[in-house]
Amino acid sequence: MQKVLAELERRREAAKLGGGQVRIDAQHAKGRLTARERLDILLDPGSFEELDMYVEHNCVDFGMAEQTFPGDGVVTGSGTINGRLVYVFSQDFTVFGGSLSERHAQKICKVMDTAMKVGAPVIGLNDSGGARIQEGVASLGGYAEVFQRNVLASGVIPQISLIMGPCAGGAVYSPAMTDFIFMVKDSSYMFVTGPDVVKTVTNEVVTQEELGGAVTHTSKSGVADVAMEDDVDALLRTRTFFDFLPLSNRQPAPFRPTEDEPERLEPSLDTLIPDSANKPYDMHELIRKVADEGEFFELQPNHAGNIIIGFARVEGYTVGIVANQPMVLAGVLDINSSKKAARFVRFCDAFNIPIITFVDVPGFLPGTAQEHNGIIKHGAKLLFAYAEATVPKITVITRKAYGGAYDVMASKHLRGDLNYAWPTAEIAVMGAKGAVEIIFRKDIGDPEKIADRTREYEARFANPFVAASKGFIDEVIMPHSTRRRIAIGLRKLRTKSLENPWKKHDNIPL
Ligand code: HXC
Repeated sequence: MQKVLAELERRREAAKLGGGQVRIDAQHAKGRLTARERLDILLDPGSFEELDMYVEHNCVDFGMAEQTFPGDGVVTGSGTINGRLVYVFSQDFTVFGGSLSERHAQKICKVMDTAMKVGAPVIGLNDSGGARIQEGVASLGGYAEVFQRNVLASGVIPQISLIMGPCAGGAVYSPAMTDFIFMVKDSSYMFVTGPDVVKTVTNEVVTQEELGGAVTHTSKSGVADVAMEDDVDALLRTRTFFDFLPLSNRQPAPFRPTEDEPERLEPSLDTLIPDSANKPYDMHELIRKVADEGEFFELQPNHAGNIIIGFARVEGYTVGIVANQPMVLAGVLDINSSKKAARFVRFCDAFNIPIITFVDVPGFLPGTAQEHNGIIKHGAKLLFAYAEATVPKITVITRKAYGGAYDVMASKHLRGDLNYAWPTAEIAVMGAKGAVEIIFRKDIGDPEKIADRTREYEARFANPFVAASKGFIDEVIMPHSTRRRIAIGLRKLRTKSLENPWKKHDNIPL
Protein backbone atom coordinates (compact mmCIF):
# COMPACT_ATOMS: atom_id res chain seq x y z
CA MET A 1 0.00 0.00 0.00
CA GLN A 2 2.76 2.43 0.99
CA LYS A 3 4.32 1.87 -2.40
CA VAL A 4 1.10 2.67 -4.21
CA LEU A 5 0.61 5.84 -2.19
CA ALA A 6 4.19 6.87 -2.85
CA GLU A 7 3.67 6.29 -6.56
CA LEU A 8 0.61 8.54 -6.53
CA GLU A 9 2.61 11.21 -4.75
CA ARG A 10 5.40 10.87 -7.31
CA ARG A 11 2.97 11.23 -10.20
CA ARG A 12 1.38 14.29 -8.62
CA GLU A 13 4.74 15.95 -8.11
CA ALA A 14 5.75 15.17 -11.68
CA ALA A 15 2.50 16.69 -12.99
CA LYS A 16 3.00 19.80 -10.90
CA LEU A 17 6.36 20.38 -12.57
CA GLY A 18 4.66 20.86 -15.95
CA GLY A 19 7.31 21.19 -18.65
CA GLY A 20 10.15 21.08 -16.10
CA GLN A 21 12.23 23.45 -14.00
CA VAL A 22 14.15 24.95 -16.92
CA ARG A 23 10.96 26.06 -18.62
CA ILE A 24 9.49 27.26 -15.29
CA ASP A 25 12.62 29.41 -14.83
CA ALA A 26 12.17 30.77 -18.36
CA GLN A 27 8.56 31.65 -17.57
CA HIS A 28 9.64 33.47 -14.39
CA ALA A 29 12.40 35.26 -16.30
CA LYS A 30 9.68 36.79 -18.49
CA GLY A 31 8.04 38.20 -15.35
CA ARG A 32 5.22 35.66 -15.60
CA LEU A 33 3.94 33.17 -13.07
CA THR A 34 3.26 29.55 -13.89
CA ALA A 35 -0.23 28.19 -14.43
CA ARG A 36 -0.38 26.75 -10.91
CA GLU A 37 1.12 29.79 -9.20
CA ARG A 38 -1.58 31.87 -10.85
CA LEU A 39 -4.35 29.64 -9.55
CA ASP A 40 -2.84 29.86 -6.05
CA ILE A 41 -3.36 33.62 -6.12
CA LEU A 42 -6.72 33.60 -7.86
CA LEU A 43 -8.42 31.06 -5.61
CA ASP A 44 -8.96 30.90 -1.86
CA PRO A 45 -6.05 29.10 -0.16
CA GLY A 46 -6.46 25.33 -0.27
CA SER A 47 -9.72 25.50 -2.26
CA PHE A 48 -8.40 24.31 -5.63
CA GLU A 49 -9.49 20.82 -6.62
CA GLU A 50 -7.72 19.72 -9.75
CA LEU A 51 -9.24 17.51 -12.43
CA ASP A 52 -7.56 15.57 -15.20
CA MET A 53 -4.08 15.94 -13.82
CA TYR A 54 -2.83 12.90 -15.72
CA VAL A 55 -4.38 13.58 -19.11
CA GLU A 56 -1.83 13.30 -21.91
CA HIS A 57 -1.99 14.14 -25.58
CA ASN A 58 -2.72 11.42 -28.13
CA CYS A 59 -0.48 12.65 -30.93
CA VAL A 60 2.08 10.31 -32.48
CA ASP A 61 3.31 12.45 -35.37
CA PHE A 62 6.56 14.42 -35.37
CA GLY A 63 8.03 12.34 -32.55
CA MET A 64 5.30 13.42 -30.16
CA ALA A 65 4.76 9.92 -28.78
CA GLU A 66 8.07 10.31 -26.92
CA GLN A 67 7.16 13.69 -25.47
CA THR A 68 4.30 13.58 -23.05
CA PHE A 69 3.63 15.71 -20.02
CA PRO A 70 0.89 14.90 -17.50
CA GLY A 71 -1.84 17.53 -17.75
CA ASP A 72 -0.97 18.39 -21.36
CA GLY A 73 -0.50 22.11 -21.00
CA VAL A 74 -3.55 23.15 -19.05
CA VAL A 75 -4.44 22.95 -15.36
CA THR A 76 -8.20 22.64 -14.82
CA GLY A 77 -10.59 22.27 -11.93
CA SER A 78 -12.64 24.26 -9.46
CA GLY A 79 -12.14 26.31 -6.35
CA THR A 80 -13.61 29.25 -4.53
CA ILE A 81 -13.13 33.01 -4.53
CA ASN A 82 -14.16 34.49 -1.19
CA GLY A 83 -16.10 31.29 -0.59
CA ARG A 84 -18.01 31.24 -3.89
CA LEU A 85 -17.59 28.45 -6.42
CA VAL A 86 -15.75 29.01 -9.68
CA TYR A 87 -14.46 26.72 -12.43
CA VAL A 88 -11.05 27.50 -13.85
CA PHE A 89 -8.56 26.58 -16.50
CA SER A 90 -5.02 27.86 -16.56
CA GLN A 91 -2.86 27.26 -19.59
CA ASP A 92 0.64 26.06 -18.82
CA PHE A 93 3.14 27.71 -21.15
CA THR A 94 5.88 25.34 -19.96
CA VAL A 95 4.21 22.44 -21.78
CA PHE A 96 4.39 22.88 -25.57
CA GLY A 97 3.96 26.63 -25.07
CA GLY A 98 0.49 26.11 -23.59
CA SER A 99 -0.61 25.14 -27.09
CA LEU A 100 -4.05 23.61 -27.45
CA SER A 101 -4.21 19.92 -28.31
CA GLU A 102 -7.34 17.81 -28.66
CA ARG A 103 -6.97 16.54 -25.07
CA HIS A 104 -6.13 20.00 -23.74
CA ALA A 105 -9.39 21.22 -25.29
CA GLN A 106 -11.29 18.29 -23.81
CA LYS A 107 -10.07 19.30 -20.35
CA ILE A 108 -11.32 22.86 -20.83
CA CYS A 109 -14.64 21.57 -22.17
CA LYS A 110 -15.06 19.34 -19.15
CA VAL A 111 -14.85 22.24 -16.69
CA MET A 112 -17.12 24.36 -18.87
CA ASP A 113 -19.72 21.59 -19.04
CA THR A 114 -19.61 21.08 -15.29
CA ALA A 115 -19.83 24.81 -14.63
CA MET A 116 -22.92 24.95 -16.81
CA LYS A 117 -24.52 22.01 -15.01
CA VAL A 118 -24.04 23.44 -11.54
CA GLY A 119 -24.37 27.12 -12.46
CA ALA A 120 -20.96 28.60 -11.64
CA PRO A 121 -18.72 31.03 -13.54
CA VAL A 122 -15.68 30.03 -15.58
CA ILE A 123 -12.43 31.94 -15.43
CA GLY A 124 -9.84 31.12 -18.09
CA LEU A 125 -6.20 32.07 -17.67
CA ASN A 126 -4.85 32.21 -21.22
CA ASP A 127 -1.16 31.79 -21.99
CA SER A 128 -0.78 29.79 -25.15
CA GLY A 129 1.03 29.52 -28.45
CA GLY A 130 -2.30 28.64 -30.09
CA ALA A 131 -3.20 25.48 -31.94
CA ARG A 132 -0.83 22.54 -31.19
CA ILE A 133 0.88 22.56 -34.54
CA GLN A 134 1.76 18.84 -34.48
CA GLU A 135 -1.92 17.89 -34.10
CA GLY A 136 -3.28 19.85 -37.03
CA VAL A 137 -7.02 19.69 -37.49
CA ALA A 138 -7.55 17.82 -34.21
CA SER A 139 -6.47 20.99 -32.48
CA LEU A 140 -8.70 23.16 -34.62
CA GLY A 141 -11.60 20.88 -33.75
CA GLY A 142 -10.68 21.30 -30.08
CA TYR A 143 -10.91 25.07 -30.41
CA ALA A 144 -14.30 24.85 -32.04
CA GLU A 145 -15.55 22.64 -29.20
CA VAL A 146 -14.52 25.37 -26.76
CA PHE A 147 -16.09 28.09 -28.94
CA GLN A 148 -19.38 26.22 -29.05
CA ARG A 149 -19.42 26.03 -25.26
CA ASN A 150 -18.54 29.72 -24.92
CA VAL A 151 -21.64 30.51 -26.94
CA LEU A 152 -23.97 28.17 -25.07
CA ALA A 153 -22.67 29.46 -21.75
CA SER A 154 -23.11 33.10 -22.77
CA GLY A 155 -25.86 34.62 -20.65
CA VAL A 156 -26.06 31.49 -18.47
CA ILE A 157 -22.84 31.72 -16.43
CA PRO A 158 -20.38 34.61 -16.29
CA GLN A 159 -17.21 33.93 -18.28
CA ILE A 160 -14.02 35.88 -17.61
CA SER A 161 -10.79 35.69 -19.61
CA LEU A 162 -7.41 36.75 -18.35
CA ILE A 163 -4.81 37.13 -21.08
CA MET A 164 -1.46 36.50 -19.45
CA GLY A 165 0.78 35.66 -22.40
CA PRO A 166 0.33 35.03 -26.10
CA CYS A 167 -3.16 34.64 -27.54
CA ALA A 168 -3.07 34.65 -31.31
CA GLY A 169 -4.85 33.44 -34.42
CA GLY A 170 -8.29 31.91 -34.07
CA ALA A 171 -7.50 31.32 -30.40
CA VAL A 172 -8.53 34.92 -29.70
CA TYR A 173 -12.13 34.08 -30.44
CA SER A 174 -12.73 32.12 -27.28
CA PRO A 175 -11.87 35.08 -25.00
CA ALA A 176 -13.69 37.36 -27.43
CA MET A 177 -16.91 35.49 -26.75
CA THR A 178 -16.54 35.63 -22.97
CA ASP A 179 -18.04 38.48 -20.96
CA PHE A 180 -14.91 40.22 -19.75
CA ILE A 181 -11.27 40.28 -20.82
CA PHE A 182 -8.46 41.46 -18.56
CA MET A 183 -4.95 41.72 -20.02
CA VAL A 184 -1.54 42.03 -18.39
CA LYS A 185 0.54 45.01 -19.52
CA ASP A 186 3.79 44.36 -21.46
CA SER A 187 3.28 40.62 -21.12
CA SER A 188 0.21 39.64 -23.07
CA TYR A 189 -1.06 40.16 -26.57
CA MET A 190 -4.02 39.23 -28.72
CA PHE A 191 -4.16 39.39 -32.49
CA VAL A 192 -5.66 37.46 -35.37
CA THR A 193 -2.41 37.72 -37.34
CA GLY A 194 0.94 38.71 -35.83
CA PRO A 195 3.40 41.43 -36.86
CA ASP A 196 5.20 39.24 -39.41
CA VAL A 197 2.03 38.45 -41.35
CA VAL A 198 0.94 42.08 -41.11
CA LYS A 199 4.28 43.13 -42.62
CA THR A 200 3.98 40.64 -45.47
CA VAL A 201 0.40 41.49 -46.34
CA THR A 202 0.11 45.22 -45.69
CA ASN A 203 3.75 46.29 -45.45
CA GLU A 204 3.04 47.85 -42.05
CA VAL A 205 5.77 47.56 -39.45
CA VAL A 206 4.30 47.15 -35.99
CA THR A 207 5.41 45.62 -32.70
CA GLN A 208 3.45 42.92 -30.88
CA GLU A 209 2.64 45.43 -28.16
CA GLU A 210 1.38 48.08 -30.58
CA LEU A 211 -0.60 45.56 -32.58
CA GLY A 212 -2.31 43.72 -29.76
CA GLY A 213 -0.92 44.55 -26.34
CA ALA A 214 -2.94 45.37 -23.26
CA VAL A 215 -2.80 49.13 -23.81
CA THR A 216 -3.87 48.82 -27.44
CA HIS A 217 -6.86 46.64 -26.64
CA THR A 218 -8.03 48.62 -23.64
CA SER A 219 -7.77 51.99 -25.35
CA LYS A 220 -7.92 51.74 -29.16
CA SER A 221 -9.84 48.60 -30.02
CA GLY A 222 -11.97 48.14 -26.91
CA VAL A 223 -11.48 44.36 -27.21
CA ALA A 224 -10.31 44.08 -23.60
CA ASP A 225 -11.74 45.69 -20.48
CA VAL A 226 -8.86 46.44 -18.16
CA ALA A 227 -5.05 46.51 -18.51
CA MET A 228 -3.50 45.10 -15.34
CA GLU A 229 0.01 45.93 -14.12
CA ASP A 230 1.30 42.34 -13.78
CA ASP A 231 0.12 38.79 -13.11
CA VAL A 232 -0.46 39.37 -9.39
CA ASP A 233 -2.39 42.58 -9.96
CA ALA A 234 -4.55 40.88 -12.61
CA LEU A 235 -5.37 37.92 -10.36
CA LEU A 236 -6.11 39.96 -7.24
CA ARG A 237 -8.30 42.40 -9.13
CA THR A 238 -10.15 39.52 -10.73
CA ARG A 239 -11.00 38.31 -7.22
CA THR A 240 -12.41 41.75 -6.39
CA PHE A 241 -14.32 41.80 -9.66
CA PHE A 242 -15.72 38.30 -9.17
CA ASP A 243 -17.47 39.45 -5.99
CA PHE A 244 -19.76 41.69 -8.03
CA LEU A 245 -21.06 38.88 -10.23
CA PRO A 246 -23.84 36.38 -9.64
CA LEU A 247 -22.86 32.75 -10.08
CA SER A 248 -25.34 32.23 -12.91
CA ASN A 249 -28.47 33.65 -14.50
CA ARG A 250 -30.51 31.60 -12.03
CA GLN A 251 -28.96 33.31 -9.02
CA PRO A 252 -29.66 36.78 -7.72
CA ALA A 253 -26.95 39.40 -7.87
CA PRO A 254 -24.65 38.90 -4.89
CA PHE A 255 -25.11 40.75 -1.62
CA ARG A 256 -22.31 42.15 0.53
CA PRO A 257 -23.27 43.69 3.87
CA THR A 258 -22.17 47.30 4.24
CA GLU A 259 -21.93 49.87 7.00
CA ASP A 260 -22.60 52.65 4.50
CA GLU A 261 -26.02 54.15 5.25
CA PRO A 262 -28.40 53.90 2.30
CA GLU A 263 -29.91 57.19 3.49
CA ARG A 264 -26.56 58.98 3.33
CA LEU A 265 -26.98 62.50 1.93
CA GLU A 266 -24.27 64.16 -0.13
CA PRO A 267 -24.61 67.97 0.08
CA SER A 268 -21.59 68.39 -2.20
CA LEU A 269 -23.65 67.04 -5.11
CA ASP A 270 -25.81 70.16 -4.98
CA THR A 271 -22.90 72.08 -6.49
CA LEU A 272 -21.60 69.40 -8.85
CA ILE A 273 -23.18 70.96 -11.93
CA PRO A 274 -21.20 74.05 -13.01
CA ASP A 275 -22.98 77.35 -13.64
CA SER A 276 -22.19 77.26 -17.34
CA ALA A 277 -23.96 74.54 -19.36
CA ASN A 278 -20.83 74.06 -21.44
CA LYS A 279 -18.49 73.41 -18.54
CA PRO A 280 -17.64 69.79 -17.86
CA TYR A 281 -17.57 68.02 -14.50
CA ASP A 282 -16.48 64.55 -13.56
CA MET A 283 -19.34 62.07 -13.52
CA HIS A 284 -17.17 59.70 -11.48
CA GLU A 285 -17.81 61.95 -8.50
CA LEU A 286 -21.54 61.28 -8.63
CA ILE A 287 -20.99 57.55 -9.14
CA ARG A 288 -18.65 57.26 -6.15
CA LYS A 289 -20.92 59.32 -3.93
CA VAL A 290 -23.87 57.08 -4.72
CA ALA A 291 -21.99 53.77 -4.40
CA ASP A 292 -21.51 51.89 -1.14
CA GLU A 293 -18.24 53.02 0.38
CA GLY A 294 -17.44 54.86 -2.85
CA GLU A 295 -16.38 51.58 -4.47
CA PHE A 296 -16.68 51.40 -8.24
CA PHE A 297 -15.11 48.75 -10.51
CA GLU A 298 -14.84 50.54 -13.82
CA LEU A 299 -14.64 48.59 -17.06
CA GLN A 300 -12.98 49.94 -20.19
CA PRO A 301 -11.89 53.16 -18.43
CA ASN A 302 -9.53 54.04 -21.28
CA HIS A 303 -11.81 53.27 -24.22
CA ALA A 304 -14.72 55.50 -25.26
CA GLY A 305 -14.32 57.59 -22.13
CA ASN A 306 -17.42 59.58 -23.05
CA ILE A 307 -19.40 56.82 -21.42
CA ILE A 308 -18.57 55.20 -18.09
CA ILE A 309 -19.54 51.62 -17.29
CA GLY A 310 -18.84 49.38 -14.32
CA PHE A 311 -20.12 47.75 -11.18
CA ALA A 312 -20.87 49.22 -7.78
CA ARG A 313 -23.11 48.25 -4.87
CA VAL A 314 -26.05 50.03 -3.33
CA GLU A 315 -27.22 48.79 0.07
CA GLY A 316 -25.02 45.75 -0.42
CA TYR A 317 -26.39 44.65 -3.80
CA THR A 318 -24.51 44.81 -7.09
CA VAL A 319 -25.67 47.39 -9.62
CA GLY A 320 -24.44 48.13 -13.12
CA ILE A 321 -23.63 51.78 -13.70
CA VAL A 322 -23.86 53.46 -17.10
CA ALA A 323 -23.09 57.18 -17.18
CA ASN A 324 -22.34 59.82 -19.77
CA GLN A 325 -19.06 61.57 -18.99
CA PRO A 326 -19.16 65.31 -19.72
CA MET A 327 -15.34 65.43 -19.38
CA VAL A 328 -14.84 63.50 -22.63
CA LEU A 329 -16.37 64.79 -25.87
CA ALA A 330 -19.01 66.49 -23.69
CA GLY A 331 -20.48 63.04 -23.00
CA VAL A 332 -21.74 62.63 -26.54
CA LEU A 333 -22.88 59.21 -27.79
CA ASP A 334 -20.79 57.87 -30.64
CA ILE A 335 -20.05 54.49 -32.18
CA ASN A 336 -17.59 53.28 -29.56
CA SER A 337 -19.50 54.50 -26.53
CA SER A 338 -22.74 52.97 -27.84
CA LYS A 339 -21.11 49.58 -28.38
CA LYS A 340 -19.32 49.71 -25.04
CA ALA A 341 -22.45 50.48 -23.05
CA ALA A 342 -24.75 48.20 -25.06
CA ARG A 343 -22.79 45.06 -24.27
CA PHE A 344 -22.60 46.01 -20.62
CA VAL A 345 -26.35 46.64 -20.39
CA ARG A 346 -26.95 43.23 -21.95
CA PHE A 347 -24.63 41.55 -19.45
CA CYS A 348 -26.48 43.18 -16.56
CA ASP A 349 -29.83 42.18 -17.97
CA ALA A 350 -28.75 38.60 -18.60
CA PHE A 351 -27.52 38.26 -15.01
CA ASN A 352 -30.27 40.06 -13.08
CA ILE A 353 -28.17 43.08 -12.18
CA PRO A 354 -30.16 46.33 -11.87
CA ILE A 355 -28.97 49.18 -14.08
CA ILE A 356 -28.45 52.73 -12.82
CA THR A 357 -28.06 55.29 -15.61
CA PHE A 358 -26.72 58.80 -15.06
CA VAL A 359 -27.52 61.03 -17.99
CA ASP A 360 -25.78 64.14 -19.25
CA VAL A 361 -25.79 63.77 -23.00
CA PRO A 362 -25.84 66.46 -25.67
CA GLY A 363 -26.84 63.98 -28.40
CA PHE A 364 -25.12 61.79 -30.98
CA LEU A 365 -21.76 62.85 -32.42
CA PRO A 366 -22.21 64.42 -35.87
CA GLY A 367 -19.84 63.87 -38.80
CA THR A 368 -19.03 61.75 -41.81
CA ALA A 369 -16.68 59.54 -39.80
CA GLN A 370 -19.56 58.52 -37.57
CA GLU A 371 -22.19 58.24 -40.28
CA HIS A 372 -20.02 56.31 -42.71
CA ASN A 373 -18.93 53.90 -40.02
CA GLY A 374 -22.48 53.14 -39.08
CA ILE A 375 -23.49 55.21 -36.06
CA ILE A 376 -27.09 54.42 -37.01
CA LYS A 377 -26.56 50.72 -36.46
CA HIS A 378 -24.18 51.05 -33.52
CA GLY A 379 -26.29 53.64 -31.72
CA ALA A 380 -29.25 51.31 -32.21
CA LYS A 381 -27.37 48.67 -30.21
CA LEU A 382 -27.59 50.73 -27.05
CA LEU A 383 -31.19 51.65 -27.70
CA PHE A 384 -32.02 47.99 -28.30
CA ALA A 385 -30.15 46.84 -25.20
CA TYR A 386 -31.94 49.26 -22.91
CA ALA A 387 -35.31 48.57 -24.50
CA GLU A 388 -35.09 44.80 -24.12
CA ALA A 389 -33.70 44.90 -20.56
CA THR A 390 -36.19 43.74 -17.95
CA VAL A 391 -34.05 44.21 -14.83
CA PRO A 392 -34.79 47.19 -12.55
CA LYS A 393 -33.77 50.38 -14.35
CA ILE A 394 -33.29 53.67 -12.50
CA THR A 395 -32.28 56.77 -14.44
CA VAL A 396 -31.08 60.12 -13.13
CA ILE A 397 -30.76 63.03 -15.57
CA THR A 398 -28.25 65.47 -14.10
CA ARG A 399 -28.06 67.98 -16.92
CA LYS A 400 -28.50 67.54 -20.67
CA ALA A 401 -30.78 64.94 -22.18
CA TYR A 402 -31.10 66.02 -25.76
CA GLY A 403 -32.66 64.47 -28.81
CA GLY A 404 -32.53 60.77 -29.61
CA ALA A 405 -29.95 60.35 -26.89
CA TYR A 406 -32.63 61.28 -24.33
CA ASP A 407 -34.71 58.37 -25.55
CA VAL A 408 -31.76 55.98 -25.65
CA MET A 409 -30.43 56.57 -22.15
CA ALA A 410 -32.94 54.40 -20.26
CA SER A 411 -35.80 56.84 -20.69
CA LYS A 412 -39.27 56.26 -19.28
CA HIS A 413 -40.39 55.21 -22.75
CA LEU A 414 -37.93 52.28 -22.73
CA ARG A 415 -39.56 50.93 -19.58
CA GLY A 416 -37.44 52.89 -17.14
CA ASP A 417 -38.80 52.02 -13.69
CA LEU A 418 -37.80 55.20 -11.94
CA ASN A 419 -36.79 58.22 -13.96
CA TYR A 420 -35.44 61.01 -11.83
CA ALA A 421 -34.08 64.39 -12.84
CA TRP A 422 -32.06 66.92 -10.94
CA PRO A 423 -33.43 70.49 -11.02
CA THR A 424 -30.51 71.29 -13.35
CA ALA A 425 -31.80 68.89 -16.03
CA GLU A 426 -32.48 70.15 -19.54
CA ILE A 427 -34.66 67.79 -21.49
CA ALA A 428 -35.26 68.90 -25.05
CA VAL A 429 -34.87 68.02 -28.70
CA MET A 430 -31.63 70.00 -28.79
CA GLY A 431 -29.75 72.82 -27.06
CA ALA A 432 -31.19 76.33 -27.16
CA LYS A 433 -28.73 77.77 -29.68
CA GLY A 434 -29.26 75.06 -32.28
CA ALA A 435 -33.02 75.05 -31.79
CA VAL A 436 -33.39 78.81 -32.18
CA GLU A 437 -31.23 78.86 -35.29
CA ILE A 438 -33.61 76.39 -36.90
CA ILE A 439 -37.04 77.51 -35.80
CA PHE A 440 -36.23 81.22 -36.03
CA ARG A 441 -33.98 81.07 -39.06
CA LYS A 442 -35.47 84.25 -40.49
CA ASP A 443 -34.21 86.20 -37.45
CA ILE A 444 -30.63 85.07 -37.74
CA GLY A 445 -29.43 88.46 -38.98
CA ASP A 446 -30.81 90.11 -35.84
CA PRO A 447 -28.63 89.15 -32.86
CA GLU A 448 -30.93 90.84 -30.34
CA LYS A 449 -33.96 88.93 -31.51
CA ILE A 450 -31.99 85.70 -31.51
CA ALA A 451 -30.81 86.35 -27.96
CA ASP A 452 -34.42 86.95 -26.88
CA ARG A 453 -35.61 83.81 -28.59
CA THR A 454 -32.76 81.81 -27.01
CA ARG A 455 -33.69 83.04 -23.54
CA GLU A 456 -37.31 82.20 -24.26
CA TYR A 457 -36.39 78.68 -25.39
CA GLU A 458 -34.16 78.14 -22.38
CA ALA A 459 -36.87 79.29 -19.99
CA ARG A 460 -39.33 76.90 -21.61
CA PHE A 461 -37.18 73.82 -22.14
CA ALA A 462 -33.91 74.05 -20.15
CA ASN A 463 -35.50 72.40 -17.15
CA PRO A 464 -36.96 69.06 -16.16
CA PHE A 465 -40.51 70.27 -15.58
CA VAL A 466 -41.91 69.95 -19.09
CA ALA A 467 -40.93 66.27 -19.08
CA ALA A 468 -42.14 65.92 -15.49
CA SER A 469 -45.51 67.46 -16.41
CA LYS A 470 -45.99 64.64 -18.91
CA GLY A 471 -44.99 61.93 -16.43
CA PHE A 472 -41.76 61.15 -18.35
CA ILE A 473 -39.84 62.12 -15.22
CA ASP A 474 -41.23 60.56 -12.06
CA GLU A 475 -39.75 63.09 -9.69
CA VAL A 476 -37.36 66.04 -9.69
CA ILE A 477 -34.96 65.23 -6.87
CA MET A 478 -32.39 67.12 -4.86
CA PRO A 479 -28.91 66.10 -6.01
CA HIS A 480 -27.84 65.49 -2.40
CA SER A 481 -30.55 62.83 -2.00
CA THR A 482 -29.58 60.79 -5.08
CA ARG A 483 -28.13 57.82 -3.17
CA ARG A 484 -31.11 57.70 -0.86
CA ARG A 485 -33.56 57.80 -3.75
CA ILE A 486 -31.73 55.09 -5.65
CA ALA A 487 -31.42 52.86 -2.59
CA ILE A 488 -35.13 53.13 -1.79
CA GLY A 489 -36.01 52.62 -5.44
CA LEU A 490 -33.90 49.50 -5.74
CA ARG A 491 -35.39 48.09 -2.54
CA LYS A 492 -38.89 48.47 -3.93
CA LEU A 493 -37.92 47.08 -7.31
CA ARG A 494 -36.29 43.93 -5.91
CA THR A 495 -39.43 41.94 -6.67
CA LYS A 496 -39.86 43.42 -10.14
CA SER A 497 -41.23 40.94 -12.63
CA LEU A 498 -41.32 41.71 -16.33
CA GLU A 499 -41.04 39.39 -19.31
CA ASN A 500 -40.48 40.07 -22.97
CA PRO A 501 -42.65 38.23 -25.53
CA TRP A 502 -41.56 34.66 -26.34
CA LYS A 503 -39.09 34.45 -29.18
CA LYS A 504 -36.29 32.16 -30.27
CA HIS A 505 -33.95 35.10 -29.86
CA ASP A 506 -33.98 38.72 -30.84
CA ASN A 507 -32.11 40.23 -33.76
CA ILE A 508 -30.09 43.06 -32.22
CA PRO A 509 -28.46 45.25 -34.91
CA LEU A 510 -24.93 43.81 -35.07
C1 HXC B 1 3.24 23.35 -30.47
C2 HXC B 1 4.38 25.09 -29.56
C3 HXC B 1 3.48 26.00 -30.14
C4 HXC B 1 2.40 25.49 -30.90
C5 HXC B 1 4.93 27.13 -29.03
N1 HXC B 1 5.27 25.83 -28.89
N2 HXC B 1 3.85 27.25 -29.80
N3 HXC B 1 4.26 23.78 -29.73
N4 HXC B 1 2.34 24.16 -31.04
N5 HXC B 1 1.52 26.28 -31.45
C6 HXC B 1 6.37 25.28 -28.11
C7 HXC B 1 7.71 25.58 -28.70
O1 HXC B 1 8.03 24.59 -29.61
C8 HXC B 1 8.59 25.54 -27.48
O2 HXC B 1 8.82 24.20 -27.12
C9 HXC B 1 7.72 26.11 -26.41
O3 HXC B 1 6.38 25.95 -26.87
C10 HXC B 1 7.95 27.56 -26.15
O4 HXC B 1 7.96 28.24 -27.37
P1 HXC B 1 9.07 29.33 -27.74
O5 HXC B 1 8.90 29.64 -29.17
O6 HXC B 1 10.41 28.86 -27.27
O7 HXC B 1 8.60 30.53 -26.81
P2 HXC B 1 8.65 32.08 -27.11
O8 HXC B 1 9.95 32.46 -27.69
O9 HXC B 1 8.21 32.75 -25.86
O10 HXC B 1 7.53 32.32 -28.23
C11 HXC B 1 6.20 32.06 -27.98
C12 HXC B 1 5.39 32.09 -29.28
C13 HXC B 1 6.02 31.17 -30.32
C14 HXC B 1 5.39 33.54 -29.82
C15 HXC B 1 3.97 31.71 -28.94
O11 HXC B 1 6.25 29.90 -29.72
C16 HXC B 1 5.16 30.95 -31.52
O12 HXC B 1 5.12 31.82 -32.40
N6 HXC B 1 4.50 29.81 -31.57
C17 HXC B 1 3.67 29.45 -32.69
C18 HXC B 1 2.42 30.27 -32.70
C19 HXC B 1 1.47 29.82 -33.78
O13 HXC B 1 1.73 30.09 -34.98
N7 HXC B 1 0.43 29.11 -33.37
C20 HXC B 1 -0.57 28.66 -34.25
C21 HXC B 1 -1.47 29.88 -34.45
S1 HXC B 1 -2.85 29.49 -35.41
P3 HXC B 1 10.09 23.72 -26.25
O14 HXC B 1 10.05 22.25 -26.31
O15 HXC B 1 11.28 24.33 -26.90
O16 HXC B 1 9.85 24.24 -24.89
C22 HXC B 1 -3.95 29.06 -34.28
C23 HXC B 1 -5.20 28.71 -34.89
C24 HXC B 1 -6.26 28.55 -33.89
O17 HXC B 1 -3.75 29.04 -33.13
C25 HXC B 1 -7.48 28.33 -34.69
C26 HXC B 1 -8.70 28.29 -33.88
C27 HXC B 1 -9.88 28.20 -34.75
